[in-house]
Amino acid sequence: MEQSSNTLIRLNKSDAEPIHLQIYTRFKEAIEGGLLNNGDRVPSTRVLASELDVARGTVESAYSMLLGEGILISRGQAGSYINAPFKLVGNPIPAASKIPIKSPIAGQNSASPSYVFLPGSPAYDAFPRKIWSRLASRRMRSLSASDFSYRDPLGYLPLRQSIAGYLRLSRGVVCEPGQIFITMGYQGALDFLVRCLSLGGRDVWMEDPGYILAKKLLDELGINLVRVPVDHEGLIVSEGIRLSPEAKLAIVTPSHHSPLGMALSWSRRMQLLDWTGKAGAWVIEDDYDGEFRYSGYPLPSLKSLDQYDRVIYAGTFSKTLFPALRLGYVVLPQSLVDVCAEKAHLFQSGMPITSQLIVNDFIAEGHFSRHLKKMRALYAERREITRKGLTNIFEDKIEINTHKNGMHVLAKLMGHDSDKAIVTGFNKLGYGIHALSNWTADSSHNGLILGFTNISNEKTAEHAARQLRECFA
Ligand SMILES: Cc1ncc(COP(=O)(O)O)c(C=O)c1O
Repeated sequence: MEQSSNTLIRLNKSDAEPIHLQIYTRFKEAIEGGLLNNGDRVPSTRVLASELDVARGTVESAYSMLLGEGILISRGQAGSYINAPFKLVGNPIPAASKIPIKSPIAGQNSASPSYVFLPGSPAYDAFPRKIWSRLASRRMRSLSASDFSYRDPLGYLPLRQSIAGYLRLSRGVVCEPGQIFITMGYQGALDFLVRCLSLGGRDVWMEDPGYILAKKLLDELGINLVRVPVDHEGLIVSEGIRLSPEAKLAIVTPSHHSPLGMALSWSRRMQLLDWTGKAGAWVIEDDYDGEFRYSGYPLPSLKSLDQYDRVIYAGTFSKTLFPALRLGYVVLPQSLVDVCAEKAHLFQSGMPITSQLIVNDFIAEGHFSRHLKKMRALYAERREITRKGLTNIFEDKIEINTHKNGMHVLAKLMGHDSDKAIVTGFNKLGYGIHALSNWTADSSHNGLILGFTNISNEKTAEHAARQLRECFA
């Protein structure tokens, strides 16, 4: 049902808050308060602009934010409609479909209508949808016969060339496109690599704490995992050597430890590379969000220091673009290219060509680097907003890590509350946060993994933080 905007939108033109933000907020409040419901048609930008006596562009800005967040959906000529299958929690962003969204970082949570505090997600409101859809429709209009046929299972060559160029400049990785394989995100890369490396029952080092989804996959595949503790310098290589000197593989997050946030120190990098050379072992460098560093320059990758050619670099578009793409890539050491190419024909059989074509255009036409630059500035701001919001509500009940990088903060619990109990209670409200203790075998870890990339203002952060605080004993 189309509502009269007069009853919905009351603007305060003398307020310092920009008018388009007021319109945007009023819409969210109207949904929260039940004045607007799922499926309601909203006035056209022209009509609303004239009713509110504001410029049409102002309403367009508000609508494009709501469209960007999936709160509005456009049905072309038929107009725009409210898409709020779930009731909004505070100021969060509802899912764009009725299928419950899962936490992208672990895919294990129950129905979760909120991206607020959800770790591992890029800012969905800031993705350049217009550019993306322009590139996509141009591509879809001009598909050639060969685009319909079986393609190279290693990936679309121009995309691999573009990635090689990008990695050289931004991550210090010097490689040939032939060493790059396109994968189904990091998860697909890990699955594929473990099959290619013929581990033959040998141990694999994994950071403790470490990325829960990698751990689950490796357990599922029957891999002998040796959990190696980390400290403020990252993986304690000497401990790895003590626990399992003959391991065949180490899996690390050197730029931004997942989930604690520190970078692997220079001396540990050297120790790790040294061990690979001596033990004939491999390293998988999971560089999942190495692009996002908010003070100083991005750290060079471990791969850029890899004198023995033992490091397999893994990157993903899940953070730099969006996770539903399911596209990632690995850079293989020369000696692994042939065996992996052979296995790729068996196990991978290639990623969908259409998304590879679009991503390649996005990179080649300069949108990717512009987007990353913008996201770096935005995330730095949102990290600070989130830190402030949390501190205002919690004061010294939690301690937020100080690493200015990545897409989440880690809030250490200063009392005796159980992180698991808090997370269970909080996620019942529709959130999707993670308990640190689920990511580790070491029972001394107790904390909350909180994403900040989709928190656009302090009010949102405080609202969610207040609800979080209520889940503490
Ligand atoms: C540590 C870590 N590695 C990799 C990824 C990316 O995974 P994928 O490319 O499978 O989406 C994530 C996503 O949350 C992550 O947290």
